[in-house]
Amino acid sequence: MILSIESSCDDSSIAITKIETNELVYHKKISQEIQHSVYGGVVPELAARLHVEALPKILQECEEYFPHLKAIAVTNAPGLSVTLMEGVTMAKALAISLNLPLIAVNHLKGHIYSLFIEKEEVLPMTVLLVSGGHTQIIEANSLSDMKVVATTIDDSFGESFDKVAKMMGLGYPGGPVVQEYGLKGDENRFDLPIPLRQSPKIEFSYSGLKNAVRMQIQKLEESEEGLTEQDKYDICASFQKTAVAHIMQKLKKQFKINVSKNLAIVGGASANIHLRGQIEELCKKHKTSLYLSELKYCSDNAAMIGRVAVEQYKLNDFVSVDEIDIQTRIK
Ligand code: KG4
Ligand code: ZN
Repeated sequence: MILSIESSCDDSSIAITKIETNELVYHKKISQEIQHSVYGGVVPELAARLHVEALPKILQECEEYFPHLKAIAVTNAPGLSVTLMEGVTMAKALAISLNLPLIAVNHLKGHIYSLFIEKEEVLPMTVLLVSGGHTQIIEANSLSDMKVVATTIDDSFGESFDKVAKMMGLGYPGGPVVQEYGLKGDENRFDLPIPLRQSPKIEFSYSGLKNAVRMQIQKLEESEEGLTEQDKYDICASFQKTAVAHIMQKLKKQFKINVSKNLAIVGGASANIHLRGQIEELCKKHKTSLYLSELKYCSDNAAMIGRVAVEQYKLNDFVSVDEIDIQTRIK
């Protein structure tokens, strides 16, 4: 079995995965969403402190598996430096004290392998990764052969939901609440610009849309009635429609270059029902098989890190305690 640790952002999570069968024998996650909600976003130092409390608590529950462990795995990149450090420090201590090899796992590969938790790997596939930190189209051929074919030039898809929610005081994370508010709103009330609409390039951008929303909110706040609940519903609906339309335009462009046989959507924001619905339609049209991770594995978790670690273990892809390093970004 492999014990895996995830602490790249605001979720403290540990999993135990069987190497031979991919069976997830233990998995727990303690989310810090409530603690960060009042600040409208993740506060790195607070997140690190909460990991220090949560990770040892979870680890205590896993002690019975210690004699069966063959390796310790941990997310080492990308993420917040102070939170990655908590997981990596715990992983190093476990590797030394239990005399086990250490596996450093890339968080983004983790999101891709969230598709294969307790399952066999299905590759190659085209992956749309939409999370709080990333918006990417990746051609994933194998664990060691993944090519980013499109990325964002500024904010990410999930982050733009977080920022729009923050502007209206709706708390953190913004994705679920904006989606919820949008259900009660008129998506055609505000005419927001679809980012990079005229650009032939396959890349993403969310800062312009975010600013257009900000200006709209300001206008409403300065109006006689002020910003009403209905205004908020309509802004959420209109914003979401535009944010999803941007992804769909670029994904369709990518399909013009290469129609994928297999397409997956992964990452915390892949929970978005509008995005899912429209991608389902696109796949139907092109007879592409669509893969989605289970909702409980869309957001950050250690089960997906453990699933990658199983493959790395089989490839003898270990790192020494002295050499493991954290990276906040992946170039
Ligand atoms: O993958 P994840 O848990 O953390 C990162 O690695 O970033 O993704 C969290 C992000 C947040 O920005 C959150 O607002 C967004 O995913 N998210 C959503 C939805 N649910 C979560 N965005 C849009 N629609 C949703 N339903
Ligand atoms: Zn993530």
